[in-house]
Amino acid sequence: MTSPIGILDSGLGGLSVLNEIHKVLPNENIVYFGDSAWCPYGSRHGDEIQDRVFKVTDFLMEHGCKMIVVACNSATIAAVEALRATYPLPFVGMEPAVKPATMITQSGTVGVLATEASLAGEKFHRLVSDHASEIKVITRPCPRFVDLVEAGDLTSDRARTIVEEETLPLIEAGADVLVLGCTHYPFLRPLIEQVAGPDIGIIDTGEAVAQRVASQLPTHSGCASPQYKIFTSGNLSHLKNNIPLLCPHITPELAHLDLA
Ligand code: DGL
Repeated sequence: MTSPIGILDSGLGGLSVLNEIHKVLPNENIVYFGDSAWCPYGSRHGDEIQDRVFKVTDFLMEHGCKMIVVACNSATIAAVEALRATYPLPFVGMEPAVKPATMITQSGTVGVLATEASLAGEKFHRLVSDHASEIKVITRPCPRFVDLVEAGDLTSDRARTIVEEETLPLIEAGADVLVLGCTHYPFLRPLIEQVAGPDIGIIDTGEAVAQRVASQLPTHSGCASPQYKIFTSGNLSHLKNNIPLLCPHITPELAHLDLA
């Protein structure tokens, strides 16, 4: 296997980023680690997230990754700078699309859905003060979205009710753009679009991150039949059942791995 791109997340959310990377770079091998046994990261302390992300990174390094995508906003906030200072390879992280949202809002109010860890970080406050000081930014942590995606529940009545409960208050408060600032949330985008209606803009960062990965990739592999390996620290049969739903365009090898 020529050097793969490594991707990590607290669980299944980063697969939304994997799908975007696969669209832009269909000839690259990919190794993904989803830390579902430790999910959610979003309610954990930054130091704890950072320790865990270093363990996952060591594991991806053993696979000879040429780049690592931190496909988790919470992990990016907690660890990306320390990762860059420690490991000799490029890291691409996530950032909620606050800046693009400021360019399309008509009402001057933007809603940001993200995890507690992402919204509490100094990095987020800096992002808002640097790029969105002229507009109103309302934030809302949605841990129940993460639970839905981890459970593979993207369409049930219960999922719809949760999406209504989390998004309608932001729209009622005047937001005409919703930023999906957690990599789990794009899997609920069809439901969010239905609930929010056609007048509300919805932005996530997956595609932009895939473009950044393509532009920063140290070498292109050009594999005719690339390999995809997805490891989970969680339940393997649950992963097997959910891969066709979450990643319908690839046929990955799946494995369970406990990271001590
Ligand atoms: N996917 C992760 C993110 O982008 C968060 C989910 C979690 O709380 O673990 O922040």
